[in-house]
Parts: sequence; structure tokens; C-alpha cells
Amino acid sequence: HPSLKMDPLCGLMLDGVALNAIADAVGTPCWVMGGDTLRTRVRRMQQAMRDAGLNVSLHYAVKANDHLAVLSLLREEGAGADIVSGGELARALKAGIAPAHIVFSGVGKTDAELERAIGLGIGQINVESAEELDIISSIASRLGTRATITLRVNPDVDAGTHAKITTGLAANKFGIPYDHAAALYARAASLPGIRAVGFATHIGSQILSVAPYRAAYARIADLVRTVRAAGQTVEVVDCGGGLGISYRTEPEGQPEALAGAMKAELGGLDVRLAIEPGRWLAAPAGLLLSSVILNKARGNEAPFLVLDAAMNDLLRPSMYDAWHGIVPLSPHVATLPAGPAHVVGPVCESGDTFARDRHLPPMQRGARVAILDTGAYGAVMSSTYNSRPLAAEVLVEDGTWHVIRPRQSLEALWQGETVPAHLAGTA
Ligand code: LLP
Repeated sequence: HPSLKMDPLCGLMLDGVALNAIADAVGTPCWVMGGDTLRTRVRRMQQAMRDAGLNVSLHYAVKANDHLAVLSLLREEGAGADIVSGGELARALKAGIAPAHIVFSGVGKTDAELERAIGLGIGQINVESAEELDIISSIASRLGTRATITLRVNPDVDAGTHAKITTGLAANKFGIPYDHAAALYARAASLPGIRAVGFATHIGSQILSVAPYRAAYARIADLVRTVRAAGQTVEVVDCGGGLGISYRTEPEGQPEALAGAMKAELGGLDVRLAIEPGRWLAAPAGLLLSSVILNKARGNEAPFLVLDAAMNDLLRPSMYDAWHGIVPLSPHVATLPAGPAHVVGPVCESGDTFARDRHLPPMQRGARVAILDTGAYGAVMSSTYNSRPLAAEVLVEDGTWHVIRPRQSLEALWQGETVPAHLAGTA
């Protein structure tokens, strides 16, 4: 982690700022996003595409971290947005991303979401089924316009990722079956209200090897050649997201290798290319600060380190058995001899476990840790389960830090709830 340093006096620092200072001021749990790291990563990805001689538009997958500050920073770096809901569309617009730089993905878009997107003149809608193509055709016709679409094709390629996040297999709900795509593209060309510009694909998430990308892009390239031979035009191939990071010891996915796969398979096609990265950009830029509530000893067994963060904050370990690095903030603690501990949250479920048998130095009540690589699919997947307020969020940039979301107040937990009159006396 080039963005993390252990300072002998101040303890763990992110992008040059002491995390203890943030925790002192804001409390824990607290999400911290390193803006400099985020910028470095998006620039590296864009540079990798340029170095390969490719003209690629980058649409950040908003679902990874939808905070307005994150979207605004990425907009400043030239990114567009890949969205999957009306809420994400509204956020992208609020952050100043132009409709023309927004791509709408997702397997189930409602009429209201489509009307809003088409009415705004959104850059591209990735269509996921024959049924959806007809719906878009009729909505755009009714609005007296044409929707720019690609067909999202399911290439039936195994990306070798966790079962809950793989998307490119025929058995998954995503995309149009490969064998139906050419015929549906021909049909799209004949439909009113539709401007079909090409194909999109996305094969999964946390992909560490470039081989499945090459396989998928080779199939898409064949499809482009097939439909062109039949007289259709293809201007765009959207290559999806999914590039993985190093959570533990696995080597991080390399944007340069991804660019190489795109160039090898799609570089000669004379199409505009696009990518939809989320995790690779945001995950390593963020961490979750937490304090030890208590160290629950169990004789000779590994103790339970009970944190003030829980599965309602960071769901990934409970949901996917995901491994996240856990690092003490104190330089003194970090040098003590380590032993196995189970790191858990206070929520009333056994699944509220961040790590089992993790080698950690002894830590007592009040000691602080950083849970690493949580800048993507972290805060966005939080809930208030167990009536736990949403954690504070902080952005570090240029050696200073900004609260970008104060800790949710208790009153905010029931904001919007109403109690029917006959029960009102009790609340
Ligand atoms: N494009 C589409 C159409 C997607 O479905 C996704 C992610 C992305 C782009 C961005 O993928 P990325 O570059 O971030 O891998 N909550 C899970 C990850 C779910 C990803 C869903 N789709 C996790 O915490 O691992």
C-alpha cells in the first residue's frame, strides 16, 4: 500500500495524514478516503489506455462508491459514470457529470428510470434483454426522440471470481445470450426510437487474470465482424469493469494488461472503446477506522476482539467471506508480538465477523485499527441494522482532511417514519 505509512510518532498515515488525528476528531467507526490515491489510480488507468494507443472513455461504476465528493473528484479527472438506477443517475448529475458521459447499465430498469434517462439524452443505455429493447423503443418514440443503445452481451466466459459476483456465465441473469445477439442487433436497427451503436460486455468483478477478458473480447470482436458483414454499423464496444485488486497477497490486476487485451482483440476494429471500472479505482483508496470495544479473552483459545464497526458498516466479510487487511494505528502496538484473534463486530449475528484467526498484536479497549481496501463496496453497502447510525466519512487530500459526511444522528435513524394516530401516544 504505497498510500499507507507507519510514522513512528503519529502512527498510521493515509496520503500523508495521521489517521489517529481523524479518529480523535470524528470518532469511530469512520470511513476515510484518500483523494490523492484515487487520483493516482484513475490517472494510471487512463494513461494505460493512452499508452496502448487506444481511445477509451472511462465511465466510473458509481455503485462502488457513490459519495458526491468521490464522483466530483473523478469528474474532475475526466471520468464519466456507469449507473444502474435513477438514484445513481441523480447523484452523477448532482456531481456535475454531463448526461452525455453517463452510461445506464442494469438488468431491470423501470419505466420511470428510462423516461428520465432518455429525456435527458443520456449517452448510452446498455440493453440487457429483447424485452427491454422493446420497452426502450416505445418510451423513446413516445418522447419523440431516439435512445442510443448497445446490447449487453453475455459471452459465457468464466471469470473465475466469487459465485456471488460473477456475471458473464450463461447461467447468470445478466446480458443477452451470445447466440441471440446478432439477430437482436438487426432487429434493433429496424425499431423506432432506437439508435443501436454497438455492444457491451461485463464478465464479473475482482478479476485478477487477463485471460477471461481476452476470451470475452475475442467473442465480442467476432460478433462485431458478423453484424458488419450483414450490413449493420458498429461504432462502440463497452468493455465493462471488473479489474481486481490485491486484498491479501494476490497480485493486483494491471490496467496495462487490460489495455493490452483490449488492443489485441478490439484494437483493429475501428470502434470507440469504453470501460466501467469501480473497485480497482476506489477500493485501495479507502479504509474503515474502528476502535476495539473490548478484548474478550477465552483462556488458551484465540480471543474475540470486539470492534465498534460491524457488518452493518462493512458487509463484505459476512457476505462473501472477503479478506480485508486489519492494521493497528499505533506504532507501538504494531511492533508487539502477534497472535491469533477473531475480529468481530457487536451485531447480534455470528456472521458479524471481520476475520478469524487473524495474526494481530495484543490490543485492548480503545486501541484503533484500520480495515483496509474498503473504498469500494464499503460505505455504499452499509445499513442501519441494529439501529446503528451510518458511520462518518472523511476525504483526505493535499495533506489535510474534510468531513464529507458527519456521523448519522440517532434522530436521523427514524426520520421519515410516522406512527398512525391511534398509536401516537406511545411514540
Ligand atoms: N459494470 C457493470 C455492468 C457491473 O455490474 C459492475 C459491478 C461494474 C461495471 C463494476 O465492477 P468493478 O470494476 O467494481 O469490479 N459488491 C461486490 C461487487 C459487485 C459488483 C457488481 N457489478 C463486492 O463487494 O465484491
